[in-house]
Amino acid sequence: MQMFRLEGRRIVIAGGLGRVGRGALACLLEAGAEVLVLDMVTDGETVLESFLDSRCMEQVAYERLSVTEFPGLNGRIADLWARYPFDGWVNCAYPAASEDESGCPETSWLEAVQRHVGASCLCSEAAAEAMAPGGSIVSLGSVYGVIGPDFSIYNGTDKFTPSAYSAAKGAILSHARWLASRYGSKGIRVNVVCPGGVQNNQTEPFLGQYNAKTLLGRMATAREVGAAVVFFLSDAAGCTTGEFLMIDGGMSCV
Ligand SMILES: NC(=O)c1ccc[n+]([C@@H]2O[C@H](COP(=O)([O-])OP(=O)(O)OC[C@H]3O[C@@H](n4cnc5c(N)ncnc54)[C@H](O)[C@@H]3O)[C@@H](O)[C@H]2O)c1
Repeated sequence: MQMFRLEGRRIVIAGGLGRVGRGALACLLEAGAEVLVLDMVTDGETVLESFLDSRCMEQVAYERLSVTEFPGLNGRIADLWARYPFDGWVNCAYPAASEDESGCPETSWLEAVQRHVGASCLCSEAAAEAMAPGGSIVSLGSVYGVIGPDFSIYNGTDKFTPSAYSAAKGAILSHARWLASRYGSKGIRVNVVCPGGVQNNQTEPFLGQYNAKTLLGRMATAREVGAAVVFFLSDAAGCTTGEFLMIDGGMSCV
């Protein structure tokens, strides 16, 4: 089972302080990787210390980097690689729409798609270019990038899933296949983890309505999503590229 281990690998995780990011980070560290976390906050080390075991801290570093500062993003990632030559890149950021809302629904939609798709896809391209001749890229997709939502799970709640989210997640999956094809001959693998709902103290009636749509009767934990990230980064997935893996309790199989 050594093939699943990540000792000697340097992995960058963008958005590593988020809900899914923390689960993935915990799994990466347990698998033996050295990890650089990128996120938006300035005191990222303090945040890491607040939820990681102190013994893990020597395996992990933090740097503030916004994945939506597009002019210059390629250069920042190339510079990052020159200082911290990484073997794997994980796109786990979830860029919120900017504060500068015009109130125009079309502008908001375009901006949401641009920020989410741009961040994930442009980071992947820059990371692939930097890592050639060998490396692995994992992006976070979603069940909603593969199947359409059943809106009945939101009945009686204030929750909703917007069309921009499905558009962005479908694009991220499609782009991963393009990138896998473009960089396969350079030893770069590109794959996507597609979670359904991830446990976060969700309440009724949403929780029950969601769970009833799954075969296992529950949402995933962030660590179950993280385990799939580790798999794609590891040698166990050494012949797997352009693929996606659903972590959705069977929601999408019926
Ligand atoms: N949570 C779920 O139920 C779920 C389900 C399916 C897919 N996903 C996907 O997993 C990924 C992570 O989602 P999450 O639930 O952890 O979100 P989250 O909001 O909990 O965390 C996102 C992280 O990204 C960081 N971030 C935001 N903008 C950034 C930027 N410009 N540059 C760098 N970092 C930035 C945030 O600071 C935060 O730490 C997303 O792609 C999301 O679509 C989540």
